[in-house]
Amino acid sequence: MKIGVLGSGAMGSGIAQVAATNGHNVVLVDTDEEAINNARGKLQKILARLVEKGRIDESTSELIFSRIEFTTTNKQFVGCGLIIEAIVERLDVKKIVFSELENIVGNECILATNTSSLSVASIAAACDKSERVIGLHFFNPAPLMPLVEVIPAVQTSESTVKLARDLIDSWGKVTVLTKDTPGFIVNRVARPFYGEALKIYEEGIADFATIDWAMTELGGFRMGPFTLMDFIGNDINYSVTESVFSAFYYDPRYRPSLTQKRYSEAGWHGRKTGRGYYNYSENAVKSEPSINKVVGQEIVDRIVVMLINEAVDALFLNIATTEDLDLAMTKGVNYPKGLLSWADEIGLNVVLKRLEALQDLYGDDRYRPSPLMKRMVISGTKFIN
Ligand SMILES: NC(=O)c1ccc[n+]([C@@H]2O[C@H](COP(=O)([O-])OP(=O)(O)OC[C@H]3O[C@@H](n4cnc5c(N)ncnc54)[C@H](O)[C@@H]3O)[C@@H](O)[C@H]2O)c1
Repeated sequence: MKIGVLGSGAMGSGIAQVAATNGHNVVLVDTDEEAINNARGKLQKILARLVEKGRIDESTSELIFSRIEFTTTNKQFVGCGLIIEAIVERLDVKKIVFSELENIVGNECILATNTSSLSVASIAAACDKSERVIGLHFFNPAPLMPLVEVIPAVQTSESTVKLARDLIDSWGKVTVLTKDTPGFIVNRVARPFYGEALKIYEEGIADFATIDWAMTELGGFRMGPFTLMDFIGNDINYSVTESVFSAFYYDPRYRPSLTQKRYSEAGWHGRKTGRGYYNYSENAVKSEPSINKVVGQEIVDRIVVMLINEAVDALFLNIATTEDLDLAMTKGVNYPKGLLSWADEIGLNVVLKRLEALQDLYGDDRYRPSPLMKRMVISGTKFIN
């Protein structure tokens, strides 16, 4: 099957590489000539590095590269069986692009969006055959991150879901099925990793380095929240939080942090600007954590129960299955354990007690436990049997 990818930025070029590596001829389109040239150059470098490391041989590298056509015109999409859109995150632009695509491709072509935050239903509504539109949410960098969230819109047909999911599975990716709701699985369930860490800092309980130390050394996370936010970019991370918050009608669970807003406004976006929660300039003094295991464990417990509550509530609202919720967090953001399995391990009654204590202390609905958690504690059931 010929695959089309629209947008040759960070995501589009990675997705094109994945499809070509899996034997597909790929048409990679970007309206910006410089962007398409950059994508071509970047892919050549990536493939050369893979040859250097012995991951692929020279002829495979040439074959992968030869399968991709780099172009600025979407007319080349004729004959594609699937097009994955990875252009700018703007609903108005995506809608125009999707309705244009329908005039180019055949009736059987699936049209997918890699949107992180927009509703797939609203993009599908721009198409006459909206049943062929689906969300396929890859993670950055697409060739390395195994997870792909598969997001049917309310209009999407079952055959579209099956075809798309089977194809992406055949690329060796881990697919999870999720409802078309703000943040899908990962960007919804992960919010407290950032938000609760920021709140702990704002309350003066610990500084950035100490919270990061606790979450990595005691919590087992690969990166602490502040290191990760600096890596993602405070501007991007803040705007995802804000968009999830407004999309959930201002549910206090997703309330953004003023600290992050100010850092973002100051241009302290993280690594990419040389300054974020940490200073990345050459002569900067490294921030050291204040190591106190009792405080550290309290930090981990507070953030982890908030994360578990999100996962439980996503299950309660049928956003995804137990298995997919756990897979999404381990394969999409490298959590040390699936959150629902983690809840079983800690004991759901313990998680519930911690949340109730937080809700009691703060009087804030942000800490309200999911009804499913209460129900399961009463019935004594576990997530994984
Ligand atoms: N960057 C991430 O971590 C990430 C992760 C998952 C999903 N996404 C989503 O993927 C999409 C792309 O993100 P990105 O980070 O690759 O963006 P990017 O800015 O790196 O690249 C976007 C590319 O699209 C091109 N473009 C813009 N309008 C176009 C049009 N009408 N036709 C063709 N090309 C057009 C731009 O020239 C640019 O090269 C967004 O919807 C984003 O939300 C991003």
